[in-house]
Amino acid sequence: MNVERTAETGTNVAVSIAGVSKVYDRGGVAALSDVSLTIFQGEFFSLLGPSGCGKTSLLRIIGGFEQSTSGRVMIDGVDVGDTAPYARSTNMIFQHLALFPHMTVFENIAFGLRRKKMPNNEIADRVRGALALVRLADYGERMPDQLSGGQRQRVAMARAMVNEPSVLLLDEPLAALDLQLRIQMQEELRRLHKSTGRTFIYVTHDQGEAMSMSDRIGVMHGGRLQQVGTPEDIYNRPRTRFVASFIGHTNMLDGVVTSIGDEAFVRIDCKGVGLMAKSHGALTVGQPVTAAFRYERLKVAPAADPNVFASGRVVERIYLGQSIRLAVELTNGAVVTADLREAPEFSPVSVGDNVSLAIPPQSVVALTE
Ligand SMILES: Nc1ncnc2c1ncn2[C@@H]1O[C@H](COP(=O)(O)OP(=O)(O)OP(=O)(O)O)[C@@H](O)[C@H]1O
Ligand SMILES: [Mg+2]
Repeated sequence: MNVERTAETGTNVAVSIAGVSKVYDRGGVAALSDVSLTIFQGEFFSLLGPSGCGKTSLLRIIGGFEQSTSGRVMIDGVDVGDTAPYARSTNMIFQHLALFPHMTVFENIAFGLRRKKMPNNEIADRVRGALALVRLADYGERMPDQLSGGQRQRVAMARAMVNEPSVLLLDEPLAALDLQLRIQMQEELRRLHKSTGRTFIYVTHDQGEAMSMSDRIGVMHGGRLQQVGTPEDIYNRPRTRFVASFIGHTNMLDGVVTSIGDEAFVRIDCKGVGLMAKSHGALTVGQPVTAAFRYERLKVAPAADPNVFASGRVVERIYLGQSIRLAVELTNGAVVTADLREAPEFSPVSVGDNVSLAIPPQSVVALTE
């Protein structure tokens, strides 16, 4: 088998997507535009983005349930353009697919294996193994309506895992569960991923879920892949305004580059407020950019602090328990938000106060897209 390898890491590629676009016949919607992506074996990879951005479309194309309009998908080094879903080494847990209500849990899980005409004793072994994997060893004879929501999701997972797919495709499997159960199931999924060592491609529109579960995340918007990276990359080094605004709480000030410094630092003028920022690519003086920085990186500081970049008046103060959220109107009229965590620095601040705001240059990114 022709398995691709990356030069730096020597890690095997599980799924490689090259220039995939999708236009649906009905409605002529461009659901995916020129998506290219490499997912490694054993990786927990999440596709993250708002409703309608193309997550399900991409997952269905990987699983073979939908044809791409152009582009290529390789799984384990083989072009699967002409391979039917059941013949691929993938298995999908669908966004809206229930269990068969008239079959026991055991039969639900055995369904795919029976269709493959596997001998009965082998089916029994495999189903028992899959049930143990999702911690439902004693539930084989139950009917789906005798299970809780979380147990049903675990059966759906067992049903996908029992085929021993090398790649598991999960389309928002926890979206219907309440918060507490979702957190339990996130742990369950992480455990399953670890114990099976298989590749998981996980679709979610929940940034917290993607951040806490994934080795890497691909952020999608409007059918395009905006950025691919580790949770830390995506959070600390967003590449586009969309990624900066979709993940975490971000201040964004429009401005122009006024000078270029060392190590990719630039100086930006935002209508009279000057900021140092880190840039991703080559910028030129006079170029319009957006300075993006997280609420929690902004500090109220003594005026002499070297990272002070502006002063302003506190226009709102909200107590959030772990932090205090301040809205500060700068001298140029823009309003920025700071989440202050350490009690000594926020307790004396109240609405109407004048404060100096500080941020280290490495916590500000200059965005052009
Ligand atoms: N079968 C279809 N026929 C026509 N248009 C479709 C079809 N399926 C999806 N679309 C459109 O393609 C775009 C992407 O849809 P998709 O289901 O991939 O989004 P999604 O990111 O999974 O959204 P959600 O988070 O709501 O599940 C949407 O504009 C949707 O309306
Ligand atoms: Mg979807």
